[in-house]
Amino acid sequence: MPDGNAVSNETFVVQMKSITKVYPNGVAANQGVDFNLRKGEIHALMGENGAGKSTLMKMLFGLEQPTSGEIIVNGEKLELTSPSVAIAHGIGMVHQHFMLVPSLSVAENMVLGMVPKKSGLFIDRAKAIEITRQYSEKFNLHVEPEAKVMDIPVGMKQKVEILKALVRGAKILIMDEPTAVLTSQETAELFVELKHLKDEGYTIVFISHKLNEIMEITDRLTIMRNGRSMGVYNTREVTKEQISRLMVGRDVVLSVQKDRAVPGDTVLRVRDLEYVNEWGKKMLDKVSFDVRKGEILGIAGVEGNGQKELVDMLFNFNVPNSGTATVNGTSILGLPQQKIRELGVSLATSA
Ligand SMILES: Nc1ncnc2c1ncn2[C@@H]1O[C@H](COP(=O)(O)OP(=O)(O)O)[C@@H](O)[C@H]1O
Ligand SMILES: [Mg+2]
Repeated sequence: MPDGNAVSNETFVVQMKSITKVYPNGVAANQGVDFNLRKGEIHALMGENGAGKSTLMKMLFGLEQPTSGEIIVNGEKLELTSPSVAIAHGIGMVHQHFMLVPSLSVAENMVLGMVPKKSGLFIDRAKAIEITRQYSEKFNLHVEPEAKVMDIPVGMKQKVEILKALVRGAKILIMDEPTAVLTSQETAELFVELKHLKDEGYTIVFISHKLNEIMEITDRLTIMRNGRSMGVYNTREVTKEQISRLMVGRDVVLSVQKDRAVPGDTVLRVRDLEYVNEWGKKMLDKVSFDVRKGEILGIAGVEGNGQKELVDMLFNFNVPNSGTATVNGTSILGLPQQKIRELGVSLATSA
């Protein structure tokens, strides 16, 4: 596989050289990592959970400091001691979990901590709305300036975060797993927006482990495994199989061949589960399904639409307002977790 850096006399907008990061608890999250960015590229940072991707980018954004190594931005060696230093050098970051203030409007979030306030206390609302409109149009990122952040969909929250970075002068945009919280429609929209930003000369780091997305949108990719860089490649010169081998460290079977399943009797039966959370929002609205022996049931949806609540009910982290759930005929709602386990149920969480 050709080396993705193979261009002579190249200048990079960002060079991270031999970066090592050991957290206070002794975890070596990055070990001697080299990472660079060309102006105007979309660069994927790939790797399995825990590979060290977020840590590397937190150092570029000034949220963490390297234990050793150097960071050069536009030819200048920097001590990125805080995000404000990074922002001053044109680096912005959109986090995996958004950092917006839910009770404030989109426009207020846009300018928070930035513009001079009208009186000492209040944000100049009219000005904030004007700035938001202006940037929203310029970058073709549709948001509703006057809506409260708590009332807008996840996809729009992400646009607000991107605009926040742009309004602060970011030319290099780091996006940490931006598609994890999006529907496929929202992902398609995001890709159009990112391509637009790229055409305008912005440089984008796109953290992901989704191979199809990476192949579609990125120019180059850096692969990490266990805190180390496995190299940098031109996206069009590598295959998905090669990428996953580098990410995981062995051959990965990307397609599953199996016979049709023959499901047996119903094991888990859920009927009319309802749950209203502490804020009065109905998180589960008469959810019913059966899972039969030998069956895999997929539950699809964007984060925040009740999946977590559903699991909480089935493993007694919480009890529903109404409904039933049985395993082989035994009710599990409100049952001690040990008893639920004795019925043969176990929980493997992603967190
Ligand atoms: N603040 C922290 N303190 C201690 N260990 C951390 C911290 N953040 C991340 N880690 C550890 O560092 C390693 C890399 O994590 P991370 O950079 O978040 O990986 P990725 O983003 O690729 O999933 C993991 O083992 C993780 O548990
Ligand atoms: Mg991460």
